Amino acid sequence: MNNKNLVDEIRSKLDIVDIVSSYIPLIQKGKNFLGVCPFHDDTNPSMSVSREKQIYRCFSCGAGGNVFNFVMDFEHLTFKETLKLLGEKANINVDGIKINQKHDKNQKFYDAYQLGVKFYQNNLNTQDGKKAKEYLKSRQIDDKIIKEFNIGLSLKKPDDLTKILLGKGYNLNLLNLIGLSSKDKDVYIDRIIFPLTDVSGRTVGFSGRIYKNQDTNKYLNTKETPIFKKGELIYHYFESKESVRLKKSVIVMEGFMDVIRAASIGYNNTVALMGTAMTKEQLTLIKRLSNNIILCFDGDSPGQHANLVNGEQFIKAGIDVKVIELHDDLDPDTYILKYGKEKFESLVENAVNYQDYKISSLKNNYNLTSDDEKVQYINSVIETTSKINDEIHREIILKKLAIEVNIGYNTLEKRLQAFLEKNKNEEEKKVLSVYKEPKKTNKRNKYITSSLATLYYMLIKSWVIVKYDREGIYFPEENMRFLASEISYYYHKYGSINIADFYTYLNDKENLLPLYNEVINANFDDSVKDDVVLDYIKVIREGILKTEIKRLEGLIRNTTDPLEKATIAEKIRCLKIGS
Ligand code: CTP
Ligand code: MN
Repeated sequence: MNNKNLVDEIRSKLDIVDIVSSYIPLIQKGKNFLGVCPFHDDTNPSMSVSREKQIYRCFSCGAGGNVFNFVMDFEHLTFKETLKLLGEKANINVDGIKINQKHDKNQKFYDAYQLGVKFYQNNLNTQDGKKAKEYLKSRQIDDKIIKEFNIGLSLKKPDDLTKILLGKGYNLNLLNLIGLSSKDKDVYIDRIIFPLTDVSGRTVGFSGRIYKNQDTNKYLNTKETPIFKKGELIYHYFESKESVRLKKSVIVMEGFMDVIRAASIGYNNTVALMGTAMTKEQLTLIKRLSNNIILCFDGDSPGQHANLVNGEQFIKAGIDVKVIELHDDLDPDTYILKYGKEKFESLVENAVNYQDYKISSLKNNYNLTSDDEKVQYINSVIETTSKINDEIHREIILKKLAIEVNIGYNTLEKRLQAFLEKNKNEEEKKVLSVYKEPKKTNKRNKYITSSLATLYYMLIKSWVIVKYDREGIYFPEENMRFLASEISYYYHKYGSINIADFYTYLNDKENLLPLYNEVINANFDDSVKDDVVLDYIKVIREGILKTEIKRLEGLIRNTTDPLEKATIAEKIRCLKIGS
């Protein structure tokens, strides 16, 4: 069996609805299944999964594909890794399959960083690395941790790494572009180096920490580069995945020293935001790791604030989140060093539900001796309580509140009902507003719409391909012409086209994927009469004619030779009467 058959067989043995719903909750709506799209920041169910077609698509961000695309993008895997994972699920051995690995245009950048990692690691074990080693030891970072986190050291010499990389054939422009050098000098001088990896585990940047009494910034991070976007980086993301799966939860912290410490006592399911602010991109990424998120920011007031602000963002995204409270201004690193593994374990096990955490922190915001503020306080506690799904949990909170503020339970209950009603209305409004799939086609000009439609019907009606082969259809945009010729090629090579399998075929032709998604997502009617398709093709041809006439008219204006003018005019006349 050749590769294509094997790959298509894996795809056809799996049901995309089963696979997608193992990652995100789906609800059935008519023929399709709907869920919140994990590929952009959203709280509405704008992703639709079709069992019939075995594809998914998002009406909001335009993502789409077959089961391979979904798993590849969700898990940040290569096609080969995805095939292995799904092959196992389908009971098909993929060891013998050869895959054309896509060439990554940034490979050179990753390679440079990889050399940097090795170089800095090596420095730590030299005579010049003694002080740094002592510093690490004083922070109880042993060789095992150093190795696991690829910690290294940049030396005092101002152009160590730059020289080495120049010697390996990299040029200064590139080294400056990716933040390893600044002009002809190293960026990192005399700092402990923590490599920062992207969602696929490739080193894309460094954070360098001072380790003597240096009078400068504690941390120096790589600047924004084509491969390093600070707002999209989460420390230890890739490395935490296996442990997150086993422990079924992820713990979100501030700093990477916190993560390193937690990992050293067995909590590898930890990630760090590298600060307290969480960007939308980071939220989207963390959502993909686990449904069970535990926040563990520092015990100081910025940390407490971060628990509240970031917790609220998760709740808005429809995710339950828990909070670990650290006291006495401690960060997880210092807490673990001071109290040990068991104490931290019990903090994790007793992490409180976000709403409970929020309610207990509300008290600090109001002056309860003022009647007005007391009313506000009661209202905000009840509003927060109304967001909890468990009825018993709500009753427990309300009973405590009744005693605390000395107000009758029934009065509070009535107010709770009002909030519940309000939440329900808002929820319904939200749900109603989603199911109207945006009709993007209206906004496009008719040539583009007709082209997308023709491409779509090439996929599902072979006579359109035959017509295309015989008469040619000149699509107005280059990538459309490429896609059309790929469709025709595939059809002749394999004898038929399946929309889901064609996604696999486009995998190493990345530039065509967005267009293919556009074609599929435009929702053209599968059951149209052939006449309708012929009309679309006619519109494309008219469009091309118009463009050509316009071009020739422009030519006339710029020509001075009367004879030439006449020749072009004749051409235009012929085109207009269609001969
Ligand atoms: N940070 C940064 N630049 C700074 C300070 C902090 O980028 N000047 C980021 C780092 O990623 C750091 C996180 O914010 O991991 C949290 O900061 P902090 O709590 O100060 O760092 P710690 O992890 O506690 O580091 P250390 O224990 O070495 O002081
Ligand atoms: Mn800290």
